[in-house]
Amino acid sequence: MKILKPVIAILIGYALLKYGIPLIGSKMHPGTWPVVPTSVMKMYMFFVVAAFLLIFTRSEEGYNDIIGPIADIYANPSKKVAMMALSVIVGGVGAFVAYQYVKPTFEPPVELRSIHPAPPSTVKAFNKSFSLQTLKNPYRVEDKAELEKNTLEGGVVFFKNCFFCHGDRLLGKGPFAAGFNPLPANFVDVGTIAQLTESFVFWRISTGGPGLPSEGAPWISAMPVWHTLLSEEEVWKAILFLYDYTGHHPRVTSEGGEE
Ligand code: HEC
Repeated sequence: MKILKPVIAILIGYALLKYGIPLIGSKMHPGTWPVVPTSVMKMYMFFVVAAFLLIFTRSEEGYNDIIGPIADIYANPSKKVAMMALSVIVGGVGAFVAYQYVKPTFEPPVELRSIHPAPPSTVKAFNKSFSLQTLKNPYRVEDKAELEKNTLEGGVVFFKNCFFCHGDRLLGKGPFAAGFNPLPANFVDVGTIAQLTESFVFWRISTGGPGLPSEGAPWISAMPVWHTLLSEEEVWKAILFLYDYTGHHPRVTSEGGEE
């Protein structure tokens, strides 16, 4: 079986690429074992196969070694069964590969919605312009008693307006919540207000779903535009309540100012 020679040569080429490249990599960066990407392997193997075919078919004799056995199956009437089997196998492999390429997948498409998109640097709300870089909660005062009063008032704002969606325990499971996609934010979860500055939260409450930049797509958020319904004071106080109730602290930048 002279045809085995090129087959073995190609397999050795494959093994050298598959294990040789990571081996060199692991010598250069001890403790690692780099993986050769499949697409690169395919490209290399194309050249390996092409190179070996060139080498083995450079003489008439070598050409016959490779093509001979296949041609023999098709030319020799006594090998009819082998011919049919080979045809079925080759056809079957082709059909399988084609099927793998075209078969539909039922995985959901990659969701590109960004939950916390970069905020605009200035926000228009309450007929004013706010710079989010410098904006601070004016009701987060030093005086403990006053802070407590502001927070309680914020709680009233919450239960009159936000509770229906964000829920009485702020878990985003209010009586209206089930109908929305995306769901109302769960403020207890560390993935929401715990990661945000108060100015970011102010922006989100004031301008709601319609205020989201295009990264907020493709979902249409049901979060209302509160600056048309509440006063600035009510929004800031509601923010105090959100942090107080959940025990989270607003994010602050290293300079002490808010992002
Ligand atoms: C009609 C239902 C509804 C009501 C009422 C509602 N929200 Fe929302 N809210 C949502 C939904 C849905 C989201 C999630 C989608 C989004 O981020 O816009 C959300 C998101 C938010 C976010 C963004 C959280 C984050 O991690 O980015 C804040 C803050 C927020 N709501 C605060 C409030 C406050 C405060 C009120 C009351 C003044 C309120 N919401 C009332 C539906 C509602």
